[in-house]
Formats: sequence, structure tokens, C-alpha cells
Amino acid sequence: MSGDGAGARPTATITFERYEDIREALFDPNLSRSFDRRSYDEGNIREGIVSVQHGAAHRARRRVENTRFRAEVLRLYERDLFPAVMADLLDRLIDGDRVDLFAIGETLSVVLAARRAGIECDPSSLDELRRLVRLVDAFSQGAAILDARDPDAVRGLVRAAYAEFEREFVRPARERRAALVDAVRRGDAREDELPQDILTVLLLHRDDPSLVLGDGGRLVREVATYLQGGTHTSAQTLVNALDIVFARPDAGRLLERIASDTLFAQRVVQETLRLRPTTPKAKRRAESDTTVAGVRIPKDALVVLDLETGNRDARAFGPTADAFDPDRILDASVPRWGLSFGGGPHQCPGRAVGAGFPVPPTFSVDDDHVYGLVALELQAVARRGVRPDPERAPERDPRTARFTRWLRYPVAFERRPDAGG
Ligand code: HEM
Repeated sequence: MSGDGAGARPTATITFERYEDIREALFDPNLSRSFDRRSYDEGNIREGIVSVQHGAAHRARRRVENTRFRAEVLRLYERDLFPAVMADLLDRLIDGDRVDLFAIGETLSVVLAARRAGIECDPSSLDELRRLVRLVDAFSQGAAILDARDPDAVRGLVRAAYAEFEREFVRPARERRAALVDAVRRGDAREDELPQDILTVLLLHRDDPSLVLGDGGRLVREVATYLQGGTHTSAQTLVNALDIVFARPDAGRLLERIASDTLFAQRVVQETLRLRPTTPKAKRRAESDTTVAGVRIPKDALVVLDLETGNRDARAFGPTADAFDPDRILDASVPRWGLSFGGGPHQCPGRAVGAGFPVPPTFSVDDDHVYGLVALELQAVARRGVRPDPERAPERDPRTARFTRWLRYPVAFERRPDAGG
């Protein structure tokens, strides 16, 4: 079936490539992301997490978890927490003339992803951040298991990573938060005093059967899902943005614009997401017979949503849809990132964290606008004079069929840390 050998063979494989057809499929309640029906003990490493839940349980989980992505929380993270952490970390991470941009992107992103997921990490300890990044790398391979070249190796790696994550990070964070939640229940503290993170909100609702949280294992995997979702994709997008910019004849001018204009940096990120979706092909399974865009889909069919091709559909993005143009004018109903955050019930809850709020067609925003963390990271490295490393070539990630994933991206910096950013 899905290529990982964990379920029944699909009755058919049906691919959609047009922007509107893919959107229709993403909203079809008969199409699920549940490919592997086994329990965790039988080998299903994604068992019970939000990404593979379907129907009422999925809606209940998202209703509770979405509360951690309110606009005022996004602004607090983007304005108050992130700039200081980023400036300090960049000073320490750019420790030589040549560094790996992918590792920098992951380390920057993991700090806030950890806070949002609900685990403590000390941003001043590079060792601890690197440890988390290593776990994120394992979880990311698990999230992309349908495209893994060696699914069994991925399963082994991910199980070990969950065990370490539970022991070292979730257990202490959970003990602390459970005490805070109990204080709220006793009336000794107010709910709005609780940390604004996923682990806390799940503990607050742990007795609600509609969330189907079950044993502690699901809680650990859910927290890992948010940690991973907030880190790997952002770092890949940062690298893809610079990979596109470096290859352009006007790279120098583009980097200057990125350095001086945050809204332009954001449009570069959103245009990058459109051309280089971190999930080039999303997959669904038909829970029952259904019809999408006039095509009959039998129960248990594998439905492939070719986001990469849909994102270049001239009907939605105009005749220059294949070109990189952060200044393109689009109808307000079409997101600049195309389908790269999915759509419908599974649409990415962290899209505004990574890529900010939609950019209005006028290209003018007010003080409430959120630019997204990747735009801020891109601008910060542009201000420090980021350039391709003349001696070392970037390496794509050979463990996945996803062409937009990098393993290493060596860069050089022309300006020293105190040059601003
Ligand atoms: C540039 C950054 C990001 C990209 C490109 C991205 C992409 C995506 C995509 C394509 C999906 C849906 C997959 C599908 O429907 O098959 C998704 C779901 C998800 N993302 Fe993101 N994401 C990003 C950032 C984030 C962040 C910052 C977080 C958390 C803080 C996050 C957490 C999640 C979660 C939990 C889901 C599963 C939602 C569900 O199944 O209901 N993502 N993401």
C-alpha cells in the first residue's frame, strides 16, 4: 500500500495535480491520513498522534491544541522571545568562517518549538539544543515514513528517540505542569497563568474522552509531533529559500532587499514554500467510496496529492507560476504558499509560526502583523552577509524521496556577528 508495508494493499492509486482538485480532496471527510492501523506495540510509531487521527477524535484534539496558536501568543513569541534568543544563538553558532546553515536553522527553531510543545530546554546550552535537534531528526524521519527508503530502520530509530525524549524531557516537564494544572483545578491558580504550551493544554484536558489520549505514550508522541513540526520544516524552508536565492543572477540585490525589508523576506519565504513544499506529495487513504473532482475513488484507495505540481498550476498562480517571484500579484483567495501547509482538517496549525500571517495584496501591513520565524531567520543571516561556501557543496537528504530535504548546507558569512541582525 503506502510503501511501508504496514497495511492492506490499496485498491487503486489516484493522483491529483490541479490546485483546485487537491483542495477538494483535502476537504473530503472520507479521506484520512490513517495508513498504518497497527498499535504502537505492534510497530506503528505514529499511533494515536494528531496527524493520523480522523473524524471526531481529530476535531476534538485540534480544537484543544489550536488554542496554543492564538494571534497574541504568536506575537509574544515573535516579538519578545525570539529576537533576543536568535541574536544570541547566531553569535555563538557562527563560530567560524564556514558553518552548516541547516544545523543553524534547526537549532534556532528548536528553542521556540520546545517552548510551544511544553518541554524545558536551556537556550544557553548548545549541547542540550543539539541533543533536541538529534531527536527532532529522528521524529522527522518518522513523520515522513511513507517516503522512507528503509522504513524498518526508521521505526527502530524513532522508538529509541521516543524513549529518550520521554525520560529526559517529557517526564520532568509533565511533573511540573501536572502540579500547576492541579493548582488550577483546586482553585489555587488561574487557568490563564498556565504555560501556553501543548503539554499543558493536554494535561488540562486529559480526562476528556473525546481527545482519545489514552496511555502516557500518546501524550509523549503528541508533544514530539509538535516539537518536530515546529523545527525541521522551518529549517528546511530557510535552506531552500537561500538555495533559490543563491542560484539567481540577482542574488546580491535579493539578499540586500531581504536584509532591509522584513515583509519582502516574508514573501521570499512564502514563495519558497510554494516552489519547494517540504511535503511534495501528501497522501490520503479512502475510508469509504467517494468522488473528488468528478473522479470516483474506491474504498481503501491511496490518494496522492501532488502539492508540488498543484503549487505551479497556472490557473491559480498565473502564467509565470514556475518562476520565483516574491513580488507576484495574486488573488487574495489564493495563499502565496500554495498548498504547502495542506488544507482542510489537517491544515498545519503552525503555519503562522513558520511563515507568518497572509501577506495582503497591497503589500502593506499594520503593527499586528506576524512575519513568521523563518523570515526573521532569513533576514538575520542575510544581514550577516550569508554566502554559499565556495569549497563545500550542499548535500540533499538521501534517506527520503522528498527532493526538498537537505542534510547539510555549508555557507560562509562575510560579516562578523557584531555587524547587526
Ligand atoms: C515552514 C514550516 C512548516 C511547514 C512547511 C509545515 C507543513 C505542514 C503540512 C504540509 C502539514 C499537513 C500535512 C497533510 O495534510 O498531509 C502540516 C501539519 C502539521 N504541522 Fe506543520 N508545517 C510547518 C510548521 C509547523 C510548525 C511551526 C508547527 C508547530 C509548532 C507544525 C505542526 C504541525 C502539526 C502538529 C501538523 C499535523 C496537523 C494535523 O494533522 O491535524 N508545523 N504541516
